[in-house]
Amino acid sequence: MSAVASGAIPLAEYHTLNLPVYAERLLLPQSEEEVASIADQADIIIGEGSNIFPRKHLPAVLSTRYLRGYRVLREDTKHVEVEVAAGENWDAWVRLCIACGWHGIENLAAIPGTVGAAVVQNIGAYGVELAPFLVSVRGWNKSIEAWQEIPAEACKLTYRHSIFQTPEWRDKFIITRVTLRLKRQYEPVLTYPDVQRRVDPSRQHDPWHLYQTVRAIRAEKLPATGSAGSFFKNPILSASELQQLREKAPDVPFYPQPDGRYKVSAAWLIDKAGLKGYQIGAAQVYPRQPLVLVNTGGATPEELWQLAQYVQKTVYERWGIKLEPEVRIIPE
Ligand code: EPU
Repeated sequence: MSAVASGAIPLAEYHTLNLPVYAERLLLPQSEEEVASIADQADIIIGEGSNIFPRKHLPAVLSTRYLRGYRVLREDTKHVEVEVAAGENWDAWVRLCIACGWHGIENLAAIPGTVGAAVVQNIGAYGVELAPFLVSVRGWNKSIEAWQEIPAEACKLTYRHSIFQTPEWRDKFIITRVTLRLKRQYEPVLTYPDVQRRVDPSRQHDPWHLYQTVRAIRAEKLPATGSAGSFFKNPILSASELQQLREKAPDVPFYPQPDGRYKVSAAWLIDKAGLKGYQIGAAQVYPRQPLVLVNTGGATPEELWQLAQYVQKTVYERWGIKLEPEVRIIPE
């Protein structure tokens, strides 16, 4: 397979919203050497495209999905530090870790996408986030034409955010390897109510049971195809903003954050604005998890865009809250 394809390349297989869009070029490097040699031709960097919304035909797209492999850097009785290639599939990686006896990320089971993308958006689910496991990231910096190793603190991972989403880094830094520090001991995180309720107490020692439980919860809430997961972020509000919202919405679920602010449930705001199942063409507010917008089959980018705008407008008019996209909309 050549690393570069030109012409009108259909992107349907290269992003999970399955929209009928094309790329002028598709770059699929299989090694770091190839990354360095073709990076300057790339306009947009993606992994498996599970968190992007291409609104239009795109210029040159580089996917890191074929960068594979991993190696153990160091280990002791308590921890293991593993370097994993950015293109490895995240869920396959979680399974490999469980099989190897490397723990901590079981609750991140079945999240679509690659290991590299997991860092970019600091994936999180069911009481666990990637951030505390990250040691460093290696990648090719197009701006200075050099490899760089970025320590975790400098990546500034916060709720669904990292420096790799900022204009200075986005599409300029190609993550090729990620180093994670995992635990040798299995300590299940059962804080999320659905998980707590469904984990069989007699199997609390079994990481595969937790993995399967999370997978089952996700399968009930999220569509198998045609989405990019949550389309919007859960808004983070100050105490006074929350108080204002609660005057209109006394039942809105909210969760205190370490910085003293509050995360409120966007799914609730969308649901209670009456938008569950709302549809424009083949683009739909997913009835089982209204934070997800889904292409039910044959949706156009314009239909999805109209739907996203309608949800934002309705939620703003009803609750005074501006929802921010969680997916990367290209072009912004
Ligand atoms: N809710 C409703 N109506 C619904 C569904 C949910 O009111 O139809 C309310 C409920 O009160 C529920 C609350 O929303 O308790 C939260 O729902 P859920 O547990 O599904 O979580 P979420 O906050 O909507 C976030 C992540 C998901 C992640 C889940 C589980 C974001 C943007 N999304 O969703 O991540 O799987 O928590 O931890 O933070 C993703 O990022 O793509 C993603 C799917």
